Amino acid sequence: MQIYIETENLILRSFSEADVLGIYELDSDPEVHAYLGGNPIGTIEEAKYIVNKIRKQYEQNGIGRWAVLLKETGEFIGWSGLKLVNDATVNGRTNYYDLGYRFIKKYWGNSYATETARVALDYAFGDLGCVEVYATTDARNHASNRVLEKVGLKKIESFYEDGIQQYFYKIEKEDWLTMK
Ligand SMILES: CC(C)(COP(=O)(O)OP(=O)(O)OC[C@H]1O[C@@H](n2cnc3c(N)ncnc32)[C@H](O)[C@@H]1OP(=O)(O)O)[C@@H](O)C(=O)NCCC(=O)NCCS
Repeated sequence: MQIYIETENLILRSFSEADVLGIYELDSDPEVHAYLGGNPIGTIEEAKYIVNKIRKQYEQNGIGRWAVLLKETGEFIGWSGLKLVNDATVNGRTNYYDLGYRFIKKYWGNSYATETARVALDYAFGDLGCVEVYATTDARNHASNRVLEKVGLKKIESFYEDGIQQYFYKIEKEDWLTMK
């Protein structure tokens, strides 16, 4: 699966080995990981592992998060998109499609998460044939909660992971199509 999608400001494409340094910048930042379990990476090797893991998901699951670049400059700003959760159980569920996004801090606040989440939902309910998409976010992560609400997901449950409250969100295909 090779993806290349252009939005107004961004390019979403499949990850390549060229993205390792970008992932290092993203995932070594403690602020980026503030609501992600507080465990940023410390080495390029770990960044390579992440890129390889996502590329394997493309092969095994037909989907995985996409690299996001600024259209104007080609700079890597982070990732967004869908993941098939089939290697873990979250809130008692597995085998579902999860919407997520993560950007290098200097790019926050430009509506890029919202812009890419909309593309991901279009892809989920179109090409991928999903009937529902879920998302999980730390209850304290106001920006992420806001993005999910803006693109039409509804908070359906609350649960605790390692003692931290998480919200579980859902959107169904019909609601997405109506909202568009
Ligand atoms: C969460 C994240 C992806 C948001 O990216 P972004 O491109 O800045 O998001 P957007 O600009 O599309 O939207 C953010 C919304 O949250 C709002 N927001 C931001 N910080 C907020 C805060 N502290 N309290 C309330 N709302 C906040 C913004 O105002 C905006 O809403 P608006 O359009 O109604 O004004 C980004 O902060 C990030 O990468 N964080 C680290 C990784 C992460 O937490 N990922 C999510 C894991 S579930």
